[in-house]
Amino acid sequence: MTQTVLVLNGPNLNLLGTREPEIYGNETLDDIAERLENLARTLDLTVDLRQSNHEGHLVDWLHEAQARDARGVILNAGAFTHTSVALHDAIKAVRTPVLEVHLSNPHTREAFRHHSYVGMAAKGTIAGFGALSYELALRAIAQLQTKVAP
Ligand code: DQA
Repeated sequence: MTQTVLVLNGPNLNLLGTREPEIYGNETLDDIAERLENLARTLDLTVDLRQSNHEGHLVDWLHEAQARDARGVILNAGAFTHTSVALHDAIKAVRTPVLEVHLSNPHTREAFRHHSYVGMAAKGTIAGFGALSYELALRAIAQLQTKVAP
């Protein structure tokens, strides 16, 4: 049976395409969803892409990923990356592998972006490749073992 990868996007990522395009590019979240759906088909996976500006929604969706036995989670937590102990704890609380993704490379930007609560708990991080970061993460999840020991 085809397994699902949840692609979770945090605050302000609904504005992709118009938001600081010199940093985040011109592609919208819908464009990224289309790219991922095309790639997922070739990998025998299904993607379920969501966005919320609310931290608790992202926590709930991480729990849901485990409950529905998702193959993995691609998480671009936006600014919550740098602030959210709740997301850090949620990633650690679930067995589902979570990959941290960013369009930009936070390490080349302001100092407050250099710390990642998400990255401290995630299986790995892909950052700095624009929309391609998401596709690389999907390829990585496709190659991971289905279950990782807690
Ligand atoms: C981002 C990087 C974060 O620092 C920022 O707050 C975002 C987007 C990225 O994809 O490059 O909202 O996660």
